[in-house]
Amino acid sequence: QKDGYDWFMRKEIYEQPDAVANTLLGRHSKEGKLVLDELRMSEDDLRKIDKIIIVACGTAFYAGLVAKYAIEHWTRLPCEVELAHEFRYRDPIVGPTTLVVCISQSGETADSLMAVRHAREQKARVLAICNTNGSTIPRESDAVIYTHAGPEIGVASTKGFMTQLVACYVLGLYLAQVRGTKFDDEIAATVAELEAMPAAIQSVLDGIEPVIKLAEEFADEPSVLFLGRHVGYPVALEGALKLKELAYIHAEGFAAGELKHGPIALIDDQLPVFVVVPPRGRDQLHDKVVSNIQEIRARGARTIVLAEADDQAVEPYADLMIKLPKVSTLLQPMLAVVPLQVFACELATRKGHDVDQPRNLAKSVTVE
Ligand code: BG6
Repeated sequence: QKDGYDWFMRKEIYEQPDAVANTLLGRHSKEGKLVLDELRMSEDDLRKIDKIIIVACGTAFYAGLVAKYAIEHWTRLPCEVELAHEFRYRDPIVGPTTLVVCISQSGETADSLMAVRHAREQKARVLAICNTNGSTIPRESDAVIYTHAGPEIGVASTKGFMTQLVACYVLGLYLAQVRGTKFDDEIAATVAELEAMPAAIQSVLDGIEPVIKLAEEFADEPSVLFLGRHVGYPVALEGALKLKELAYIHAEGFAAGELKHGPIALIDDQLPVFVVVPPRGRDQLHDKVVSNIQEIRARGARTIVLAEADDQAVEPYADLMIKLPKVSTLLQPMLAVVPLQVFACELATRKGHDVDQPRNLAKSVTVE
């Protein structure tokens, strides 16, 4: 069932345009209104929610970190994101007006399941975002949004992560629609952007050759850093995780603004640093990240920059610029993560590793 690919992971990376289209299918009208009957909550009850807590592990946790930015921006509801195993064994503030969202590709991760059970004991409403029909977490939740990505076999999540992002965006937009915190035309514009994402992801994949070459060049690097800001920060964390779990290389992701508070001490001659650059917009995010790139380059780092294709402000500071299609800031993770997935997959296979079954890892960890 590898459809001509040598690894499931590679196949699943290339399936992402279709997976995104499947997650969106039937979840909005032609006019850009969200339809989310799966939530099984009346609009009245949805308006009573006063807090959202996302619980998850691993890559799904990073999808949750991205979701926080979007959900808070669109709904103006406080949204916390917590590692499921941390949430479970402290005394979180949860009650009947809290919506707990558990993100899990497999629906079987024990740490996440325990968090769901704990939330339900506290009378919270629990929504699962899951890829596996009928798995335990959706069965024990009040409601479920299935991601419809198709089976994910590779241990390292790719299309699972991508479609978790889509489900979180749909949820955030739906809540904004019900609660009236965004104008309908703003919501419809974001839905239209989501609809265009399969083609945008495909164009990133079509231009992926330089990333494959880079993986060959960097195969013997002992350490790689990833930087991002805002939603680019969880993307940096995910890029680092992929490299650790597949290539067994030391990799770390940092919030770019945090650099000067410590991690900049790690920068030395020739260290490869990936930087996710936000789209140019009205805020100062973009310029702040460009100055971070200048700082690390001045200290000898090799900069691999993921930025909008025509971002001339950053190009002079990039040893390699990976060009991304134009998209709004909140949706950029769906594009920026793709080259990082490919980089880790290519580098690991080049080193002869099994990317579908990395050492010491399991697809779903069913013990706490
Ligand atoms: C891990 C897997 O242990 O579980 C990761 O190796 C995954 O790839 C994490 O992100 C969470 O899994 P799930 O199924 O709950 O999303």
